[in-house]
Amino acid sequence: MKIAVPAESTPGETRVALVPETVARLTRDEHAVVVQTGAGDAAGFRDADFTEAGATIAPGATEAIDGADVICKVGPPTADEIAALSGGQLMVGVLGARTEPELMASIAASGASAAAMEMVPRIARAQRLDVLSSQASLAGYKSVLIGANTIGRFFPLMMTAAGTIPPANVLVLGAGVAGLQAIATAKRLGAVVSAYDVRSAVREQVESLGGKFIEIEQGEDAEDAGGYAKEQSEAEQARQREAMTGHIAGSDVVITTANVPGRKAPTLVTAAMVEAMRPGSVIVDLAGESGGNCELSDPGNEVTAHGVTIHAPLNVPAMMPAEASVLYSRNLVGLLELVTDEDGSLKIDLEDEVLEGTIVAHSGSLVGPLAG
Ligand code: NAI
Repeated sequence: MKIAVPAESTPGETRVALVPETVARLTRDEHAVVVQTGAGDAAGFRDADFTEAGATIAPGATEAIDGADVICKVGPPTADEIAALSGGQLMVGVLGARTEPELMASIAASGASAAAMEMVPRIARAQRLDVLSSQASLAGYKSVLIGANTIGRFFPLMMTAAGTIPPANVLVLGAGVAGLQAIATAKRLGAVVSAYDVRSAVREQVESLGGKFIEIEQGEDAEDAGGYAKEQSEAEQARQREAMTGHIAGSDVVITTANVPGRKAPTLVTAAMVEAMRPGSVIVDLAGESGGNCELSDPGNEVTAHGVTIHAPLNVPAMMPAEASVLYSRNLVGLLELVTDEDGSLKIDLEDEVLEGTIVAHSGSLVGPLAG
């Protein structure tokens, strides 16, 4: 199988879809890998690192894609890359299957197949392919460092000759993959950490990381059959906000990671709640890409309101491009193994439970979750 790695072109995207480690694994398995020149530069991987791992270097995206069986991307393909696609090829990446209908239609029209990595089912067998989890973990870690760097005070308790400084209070709202990593990171830095999630099933996980779980009596079932949060009614959200106001006001750093799949992120921190926080406090809103959890967040920018600094960074994994790329590329290898038959050729089995949820275009049509 020939596997192509074009350079990413989305502004701010520093990751690369395959790294020398995974290229070496693929070339050992007798696949040919072609990497566009400079594709790994922003992540710290030079062309020479890729050639040492067995790849060849192509001067441009079109040359890399030409004749490839699989094209590995981090983000969605460009118009030129789609124009270079042909039937029988497989485009793999975080494509925006649910949010970019025109892009999906144009990939399907090219005759190529598409695997949308953000659609990989959250089932045990697909954990190795789970890019949402691998990248959210990094984001959760980084969110704490952003908070710690901004706050202008210590996280741990400090005993000095001049007296004792109490530890910082960190509150994490949303204890999914990113939130749990944020809790672990803030604990390691010595903060006192508390957390809240509508899914009370995460209580044990929060406590096992040394966090205190804030219980709010739930008027309705907050979890769907797939283990995700359901959208809460307006009355339920208002009740949660009221219960949370005091906790937010008493926190030095609030990290928000709450998302409901397919919906705008819930507003957990209102303008009034920001006003009630101590000046100098910090909010790091990791839900910026889905609209933000804080009413005053400006996704992609840092704002200050009532003396509180609010960060809502976008594409946080791209701030740690080397490791983010390593994890992402291992997720892609998991996918590649599922689409390789015994003699090493591309074979897409649409009956496979994981591929059924992930393959969104095939043989000229939208399929799987995008069918119909
Ligand atoms: P996510 O990014 O969609 O949401 C983050 C968190 O926000 C979730 O824990 C959610 O419950 C919480 N949330 C939503 N609305 C909220 C509100 N109003 N207030 C407070 N918190 C709120 O979720 P993520 O982190 O991608 O995954 C969470 C779910 O997926 C979990 O059930 C987890 O066990 C499951 N999962 C399963 C995997 C597998 O089996 N392969 C892999 C990874 C996650």
